[in-house]
Amino acid sequence: MLGNFTYSNPTKIYFGENALDGLYSELPKYGKNVLLVYGGGSIKKNGIYDNVVSILKECGKEIYEDAGVMPNPTVEKLYEGCERAKKGNVDLILAVGGGSVCDYAKAVSVSVHCKEDPWDKYYLRMEDVDNEIIPVGCVLTMVGTGSEMNGGSVITNPTQKLKIGHVFGDNVFPKFSILNPVYTFTLPKYQMTAGFFDIMSHILEQYFSGEDDNTSDYLMEGLLKSLIHSSLIAIDNPKDYEARSNIMWIASWALNTLVAKGKSTDWEVHMIGQSVGAYTDATHGMTLAAVSLPYYRFIMPYGLAKFKRYAVNVWNVDPSGKSDEQVAAEGLEKMEAYMRKIGLVMNISDLGVTEDMIEGIADGTFIMTGGYKVLTHDDVVQILKASMKNNIS
Ligand code: NZQ
Ligand code: ZN
Repeated sequence: MLGNFTYSNPTKIYFGENALDGLYSELPKYGKNVLLVYGGGSIKKNGIYDNVVSILKECGKEIYEDAGVMPNPTVEKLYEGCERAKKGNVDLILAVGGGSVCDYAKAVSVSVHCKEDPWDKYYLRMEDVDNEIIPVGCVLTMVGTGSEMNGGSVITNPTQKLKIGHVFGDNVFPKFSILNPVYTFTLPKYQMTAGFFDIMSHILEQYFSGEDDNTSDYLMEGLLKSLIHSSLIAIDNPKDYEARSNIMWIASWALNTLVAKGKSTDWEVHMIGQSVGAYTDATHGMTLAAVSLPYYRFIMPYGLAKFKRYAVNVWNVDPSGKSDEQVAAEGLEKMEAYMRKIGLVMNISDLGVTEDMIEGIADGTFIMTGGYKVLTHDDVVQILKASMKNNIS
């Protein structure tokens, strides 16, 4: 049964090869001063920077640059961005990059006018925004996080060894996002595949929870099938526009709040993955890939009916003559074969985790209550140990 909910997604999407022209419609809505936020320089190499800057100038904008947003953006960088935005008295923050740049832009947007330390207020205490929010627009260059159409903003505090996401309300969603699949063609394969698994994980986090008969689960099965199909094409030919455009759109719908409406969700894989990320600074999607199967195999007995459904509806496992356990396990085997085929990192050792980090990673893992089993600290340790290289065949 679908529970009660309110649904609204205020992000306007411009999609396709000409999507950047959307800036001509959007920029006039905001004041003169624009904070142009980007990462380590990929947009300068592939020409996106030049195209964006030329439109900003054509539209008469004053540009203040905030470059060098790192993957897994840090709280120190956030403080720096707030200073820049204040100095430029900016009216719009334009994020040009992947999830890190987009998440960071949202963090700056809510923090510039915040009287307190934004890390404490938004990330440790998880409080709502009660000050002015600077609008954010996004030009997406890396697909996976869904940050282009949601209120998520993940910030890492390397000193405290914590990586925390705040899911802000729709007042913080990007006002508009430019989605041109061609922009993703220059992504290194490692980032591309990490993004594919991030999308898959977002869907699974919302799918593996509850046992009701609801439309959201059917939507997710459709998204998963399309993702598996298109990602296998993209692995062979990264410039296949049809596949890359499908994947870009799936990523947005996987985490733009729609499929979570009216149902419970889990998010424990992300909590473990984020803690691994806080210790290793590893690529987000790969942290999820490395812990997912050990986690799902651990909780499978507690949510057997859903794991069986997943095996049959998503991985086309034939259930005839098999026990529920056999069908469910076969589904996870097929998932594993797919993960290996597209080249995901399958253990946390390869991400830099060593035995002495395991207790700390478990301590930094937030425990969620929407999954099929509420984990104990020891359960997390067990899952992390099962994710170490020596324990994976
Ligand atoms: O910094 P540059 O030089 O741009 O290079 C980036 C970066 O090194 C590169 N890249 C991006 N677009 C490219 C490109 N290289 C060549 N061509 C292009 N077109 O890719 C690298 C990774 O970029 P990043 O933005 O870090 O990746 P992603 O989009 O996966 O974002 C990861 C961050 O998002 C958070 C993660 O925790 C992590 O901090 N997440 C945000 C979520 C949300 N807002 O809802 C949910 C997710 O679960 C996730 O937690
Ligand atoms: Zn994710």
